[in-house]
Amino acid sequence: MTTQTLTITRPDDWHLHVRDGEMLGAVLPDTARQFARAIIMPNLKPPVATVELALAYRDRILAALPDEADFEPLMTLYLTEQTTPDDIRQAADNPFVHAVKYYPAGATTNAASGVRDLERVMPVIEEMEKQGLPLLMHGEVTDSEIDIFDREAVFIERHLDGLVKRFPGLPMVFEHITTSAAVDFVLAAPDNVAATITAHHLLLNRNAIFDGGLRPHHYCLPVLKRESNRQSLVKAATSGNPKFFLGTDSAPHPKSAKESDCGCAGVYSALHAMEFYAEVFDDAGALDKLEGFASFHGPDFYRLPRNPDTLTLVAEPQEIPETVDFAVEDGVPLRAGGQTRWSVRY
Ligand code: DOR
Ligand code: ZN
Repeated sequence: MTTQTLTITRPDDWHLHVRDGEMLGAVLPDTARQFARAIIMPNLKPPVATVELALAYRDRILAALPDEADFEPLMTLYLTEQTTPDDIRQAADNPFVHAVKYYPAGATTNAASGVRDLERVMPVIEEMEKQGLPLLMHGEVTDSEIDIFDREAVFIERHLDGLVKRFPGLPMVFEHITTSAAVDFVLAAPDNVAATITAHHLLLNRNAIFDGGLRPHHYCLPVLKRESNRQSLVKAATSGNPKFFLGTDSAPHPKSAKESDCGCAGVYSALHAMEFYAEVFDDAGALDKLEGFASFHGPDFYRLPRNPDTLTLVAEPQEIPETVDFAVEDGVPLRAGGQTRWSVRY
C-alpha cells in the first residue's frame, strides 16, 4: 500500500509566542520550517505596545531566522490603558503591524499591563473599527471568584457579546477558543467575528492535566476543558467554516518554569504543529478540510494573499524528543517522548 500523502497550500500560524533573546533564536526555526507567516504575540516584558517597539521586535525576529528560512512575522500591538487612537492610526498605516491584542490584566503570562476596564479603551477600539485593524482577544475574565473552567463563557456574557454589538465593522478574533459556548457564539456572530483554535485544545481534554499525576506541560490558558468541549472544537475546525482558523498558541517556557511550585501556562506545540493538526483532521475524516483551516481562512480574514507555495504531509510516524533546546534551558514539546502519526516532508 502506498503511503498516504497530503499536499496543501503552505499554512500560516495566526497566534504564536516566540519570546525574545536567545530563546527566540532557538524556537523560531520550528515555526519557520512549517509556516510561511505567523501572528506574533506582543506579551514580552515590557509589552510590545507601540509601533516603534513592534518594528524593533520584528527586526530581532528577522535577525534570528535561519538563512534559508522563508518566513514573515506579522506584528501585533499590546493593548494597554495607555494606548491612544494615534497609536492605532500609526499601526494601521504600517505595513508590518496587523492587529492589536487585548489581554485582560493578569489573565496570563506577562498580562500585567493588560486592560483592567474595557470602557477605558473604547476610544481606541473605535479607532480600530474606523481603520479596520483587527482586535485579537484573550477571551477570559480574570475574576478570581469565577471558576477557572467558566472564565471563557463568562467573558462572552460580560464583554464579548456587547463588543460585537457595539462594533459591527471591527474585525475581531476570539483567540484560542476552548468551549462549546465559544463555538456557538462565533457561529451565531456576524462575519467580522472569527476564532483561532490550537492543536492542544483539539487533541486533549482536561483529564490530560491530571493523567496519573499532575502534568504541568498540559497546563495552558485558557485551561483544557471537558471532552464535550473538545469535540465541539473539532467539529468547528473540521467543518470548513471560514470563521475558524489555525492558531497554535505555541508558548515556550523553560522546563524548570513549567515543572515548578507555580508553573507557567503554555504548551510548546511548534515542533510538530502541522503533524498534530493533520492527526486531528484525519481522525475526524476531514483531511480535505485541513487546507482551508490552515492556509485559506486566516489570510482571507486578515485580507492578505494566500501563500503561493505548498507543504506536504505524509502518514508516517515520527519520534518526538523528550526535550528540545531553548538555548537558555531545555523545553518540553507537546507529546514529548511519544510519536506523531503524520510527518511533514521537507
Ligand atoms: O498558555 C498560555 N501561554 N496562554 C496564554 O495566553 C499565554 C501563553 C504564554 O505567553 O505563555
Ligand atoms: Zn497566546
